[in-house]
Amino acid sequence: MHNAAFAACQLPGAYEARRVTPPDLGAAIAGLRMPGTLGANLTLPHKERVLAHLDTLSPAARAIGAVNTIVHRDGQLHGDNTDAPGLLAALAQAGDGGHRPAAVLGAGGAARAAVWALRSQGREVWVINRTPEKAAALTAELGGAARAREDVPWSEVGLIVNASSAGLANLSQTPLPDFDFTGLPPEALIYDMVYKPAETRLMAEARAQGRRAENGLGMLAHQARLAFVRWTGCEPDIEVFFSALGQGARRA
Ligand SMILES: NC(=O)c1ccc[n+]([C@@H]2O[C@H](COP(=O)([O-])OP(=O)(O)OC[C@H]3O[C@@H](n4cnc5c(N)ncnc54)[C@H](OP(=O)(O)O)[C@@H]3O)[C@@H](O)[C@H]2O)c1
Repeated sequence: MHNAAFAACQLPGAYEARRVTPPDLGAAIAGLRMPGTLGANLTLPHKERVLAHLDTLSPAARAIGAVNTIVHRDGQLHGDNTDAPGLLAALAQAGDGGHRPAAVLGAGGAARAAVWALRSQGREVWVINRTPEKAAALTAELGGAARAREDVPWSEVGLIVNASSAGLANLSQTPLPDFDFTGLPPEALIYDMVYKPAETRLMAEARAQGRRAENGLGMLAHQARLAFVRWTGCEPDIEVFFSALGQGARRA
């Protein structure tokens, strides 16, 4: 995606993947202070541990406690979180109304970004997690309320965000087994952050019961675009990112 964006902006940059083990994180981050380096993205398991290696944090990164984007300026490293605004952009594109109560499944780093983002829209958020104590700790910090599945008033829920890794690379897994999607409002959206497979079991079951469902490719594209804008100041069309993902003409 980023190499397509460099080309679209006619900038001479390059983006490459590096595998970094936890003991090597400090050295890898120090390497970003080199002149000519714009920054980096991070993924599991580094998003939270990296905070100690950075000079400044955006309000979102500080509140969420996770960084997915590092911006380098004159030897200083700034940590940001574009997962949260990337999710909101993807939800808006998927037709989420932005006001009904939301249920977030999971309590890891992605769930923290989701809860922070949805709360920033002023929404009621219920968090459901396999390990309930983690949902309680998350909501104590970020707002919303931890709930057991049976205690959620599903008829009020306009959005379910799967921020758990249930279903990731596994078609037989779902974070909501034996769930009655018809108990949700008819216009409810089920947003699965997982994008491999393209249709998860959660999505398939929601669609089979007449509810809209989207995978996490939109969030992936939007968080990438927001990172690119922070690094370069150039604002490529989101279609550049969808095309690079093999998902051209998403707006058509
Ligand atoms: N689309 C995007 O751009 C994007 C961006 C970020 C993340 N993601 C996706 O979001 C997911 C979560 O990422 P993360 O960084 O938050 O991971 P994480 O910190 O490891 O958290 C994983 C969460 O999933 C729960 N979980 C794992 N297996 C489960 C299962 N079989 N049934 C029910 N719950 C299960 C865990 O519950 P416990 O607390 O009980 O262990 C935990 O709450 C991943 O699939 C990741 O690929 C997508």
